[in-house]
Amino acid sequence: MSDNKAFYVTTPLYYANDELHIGHAFSTLAADIVSRYHRSMGHQVHFLTGSDEHGQKVEQAARSKGLSPLEHTDCLVKKFKSLWELLDITYDDFIRTTEDRHKKVVTELLQKLYQKGDIYAANYNGWYCTPCERFWTEKEVPEKTCPDCKRAVQEIEEKNYFFKMSAYQQALIDYINHHPGFIRPENRRNEVLGFLRQPLGDLCISRPKSRLSWGIELPFDTEYVTYVWFDALTNYISAVGYPFDMEKFKKLWPANFHIIGKDILTTHAVYWTTMLMAADLPLPEAIFAHGWWVTGEGKMSKSVGNIINPRELVAKFGLDPFRFYLFREMVFGMDASYTEENFINRYNADLANDYGNLCQRTLPMIVKNREGLFHKKEATLPQSMEIAKMAGEIKADYIKAMNDMLFHEALKRTWDLIQRLNKYIDETAPWKLAKEQNYEILDEVFYTIGEGIRFVTHLVEPFMPHLAPEFLKQIGDSNGFVKIPDLQWGQLKDRTRVTSEPVPLFPRLETERIQNLKKGTKPAEKDEKKTEKQAEKAAPISEDGLVSFDEFLKTELCIATIETAEKVENADKLLKLTVSLGEEKRTLVAGIAAFYNPDQLPGRQVVMVKNLKPAKIRGIVSHGMILAAATPDGGLALVTPDKPAKTGIRVK
Ligand code: MSP
Repeated sequence: MSDNKAFYVTTPLYYANDELHIGHAFSTLAADIVSRYHRSMGHQVHFLTGSDEHGQKVEQAARSKGLSPLEHTDCLVKKFKSLWELLDITYDDFIRTTEDRHKKVVTELLQKLYQKGDIYAANYNGWYCTPCERFWTEKEVPEKTCPDCKRAVQEIEEKNYFFKMSAYQQALIDYINHHPGFIRPENRRNEVLGFLRQPLGDLCISRPKSRLSWGIELPFDTEYVTYVWFDALTNYISAVGYPFDMEKFKKLWPANFHIIGKDILTTHAVYWTTMLMAADLPLPEAIFAHGWWVTGEGKMSKSVGNIINPRELVAKFGLDPFRFYLFREMVFGMDASYTEENFINRYNADLANDYGNLCQRTLPMIVKNREGLFHKKEATLPQSMEIAKMAGEIKADYIKAMNDMLFHEALKRTWDLIQRLNKYIDETAPWKLAKEQNYEILDEVFYTIGEGIRFVTHLVEPFMPHLAPEFLKQIGDSNGFVKIPDLQWGQLKDRTRVTSEPVPLFPRLETERIQNLKKGTKPAEKDEKKTEKQAEKAAPISEDGLVSFDEFLKTELCIATIETAEKVENADKLLKLTVSLGEEKRTLVAGIAAFYNPDQLPGRQVVMVKNLKPAKIRGIVSHGMILAAATPDGGLALVTPDKPAKTGIRVK
């Protein structure tokens, strides 16, 4: 990289309409790890993240909470930033699309492309999906449902403004063909090239204010606001000075990496790049689309209820193991599936056994036999020489993998060295050398292990920035981290003194927990709520996951008729229902407010768990639970009898 150009990396701007889950955390952590790595290479780094705050979804989310859009996004941005703080994200700038510095640039860019003739007005007839805020052509919606979210689309005809994206189709194809590393990984590049085999239409970049007011006004027609993607994508240049601070802009642009998930590949690889071409700006060096984190049931979604909350994982396992796990487990570019069992297995194998044990096995022996001192020795054993050579090779592979953002590969190679060092301990048996008082060789063995720990800890540091310094402390290396290009084998100083009582940095997670997970029961967490434990006892699940008929009958299901429904104050997800069971009336709180309006519910019959212990939710005693299932379009369907049934009757 030239002296003047900083390494510039971006994350997507996350929609300020909901809270973030591990999928979002993953993209941001990827940018953090790559930033830390480049800093450790001695490069200047600029790391940008932020929030996407305009558009219908944000407006609707705000309205449902009785807030103005900006009040709503202010609140979410605070939450985003506090999550980034918890995950120790070292971003340099956080851009909000509602900031003046951003809006000014969007306006400028629109005006520029309008004057150039690349934006024009036309009557548009298309099928519009309100939740996705996008138009589809007649052909694309044979079922009149949105190909993305599967909800109904509406036919709309109106005047709109269009960006002449089609004019840049060939130029984009040529560019991708001449720049093999531009869209990564390879399969995503092929996907984009496949998409570009069809004629590219022009992009509708406006929304009439009558339909959407929460956006940036078009400078050439005040009746319209900008389409949210045109607005949001511009952040990558508005945050770095374009066009008002060109000195800063030249230092940072083109971005080295736009890190995105595969869901937003077309918008980045096609919309954004053609927008840049129209503006006569260079394209980013690379767009990297990683895969999705999924759970057993598929893509994470709030309505399916399979969202994994990064805060919970950090609280349970610690920040560094969480960071490590995500990047060791996911082959960057492919999808990965999260399960707690898998997390624990990887933690125990890679962190507790392999890395942590290197210190735990060795340092007490050094304290016992060599007064805690490393003595620097020339390598004489063939294995010591082999390890020194291997370290250099692994460093080279690590740099190559990290430059290409192949994190799993970089970690895998680092672990090759860790595993070799563990094998070296078995081969050289330092406990025997100590017994034989063969201090010459014993010192050589200890030094190789200590130097090995120091070496791998340097490579691990961008992933585990909190525990890596602890490893250096344990081996007594007070020199701190050297830049990766300066990292050489043999830099651990003679007579470095190890910590006398090393505490395990990755204490093993107990096997009892794993056993429980394997059996399909919940892990016995110390801090688990009593009621959950009781529920487990009451409904034991056998090895094969089946329950007996008697056990099933313990759950009393019945038909309830909803009489009233109202929102629960200060809880946007909850509705308070009163239901009739015939002779009895019950009050219960259900998490269905995002899917049902209170006035849709009275009179409906639902299936309810009758013999559930009452629980106090938001001050309301909720007695019973109604059943519902997720729908493929991300919605929720109440379980109801398919013809009127007697209120209160047992469901069997
Ligand atoms: N606002 C747009 C992006 C505009 S960029 C100029 C948007 N926002 S989003 O909040 O929906 O975030 C999408 C991004 O979050 C994905 O591209 C990906 O980076 C990350 N993830 C969201 N869910 C994910 C998974 N389940 N797994 C991995 N990452 C995913 O789209």
